[in-house]
Amino acid sequence: MEDIVEVLARLGYTVAEGPEVELDRYNFEALNIPRDHPARDMQDTFYIGDDVLLRTHTSPVQIRVMEKQRPPVKVIAPGKVFRCDADVTHSPMFHQVEGLYVDRGVTFAHLKGTLETFVRELFGPEFKVRIRPSFFPFTEPSAEVDISSPFLAGGRWLEVLGAGMVDPAVFEAVNQARGNNDYDPEEWTGFAWGLGVERVAMLRCGIGDIRLFYENDLRFLRQF
Ligand code: FA5
Repeated sequence: MEDIVEVLARLGYTVAEGPEVELDRYNFEALNIPRDHPARDMQDTFYIGDDVLLRTHTSPVQIRVMEKQRPPVKVIAPGKVFRCDADVTHSPMFHQVEGLYVDRGVTFAHLKGTLETFVRELFGPEFKVRIRPSFFPFTEPSAEVDISSPFLAGGRWLEVLGAGMVDPAVFEAVNQARGNNDYDPEEWTGFAWGLGVERVAMLRCGIGDIRLFYENDLRFLRQF
């Protein structure tokens, strides 16, 4: 997490924070994921009440930041997130680092350049990178980045982040909350990403099972 934040600080991003116990509105609705929409199935959610939940990603911080400040915006949001998910590459609590850049004339080429620079800084040249098309309700177009590690058996690909161009519907939700048109989608464009921090550690240290991080087995922990 420290390495990731340091690389991004050098690219001019400042750190923002949001709550781990979040409102439905920020975690889903303002991100173009309405109630009862099938897109909610992408993230199996721990609900605390009808409108209150454990945030499933750091993307709600995008909305909180934009509601508070006018564009341009260039922030990252590191933190814990929670999902009802558990296997070798999924943990019920894990960490993400969100990025959001909104300015005039921001394009997908800027997103690709940023991700490539970032991945090169964080991983050595012996790691392979691929970007493939994907879908998120709050970005259009969307992409995912996979990395193959020389330290993981068979050089298998592991997905590390989702990203895309901020969907105009997200700017509209922010404008509605702000009661103005400061984030006019005709004037401002932006990109965002959400990176899985444990996945980065798995790739860099050759750890094949994410659950090892949280089992407190001393034989595992002592290696570090
Ligand atoms: C998201 O969470 C989107 N909010 C990312 C995003 C942000 C897209 C901004 C566009 C714009 P996703 O569910 O794919 O997307 O999770 C992002 C990353 O978190 C994954 O690539 C993976 O590295 C990591 N991740 C997801 N679920 C888990 C889990 N259960 N355990 C560990 N890491 C996980």
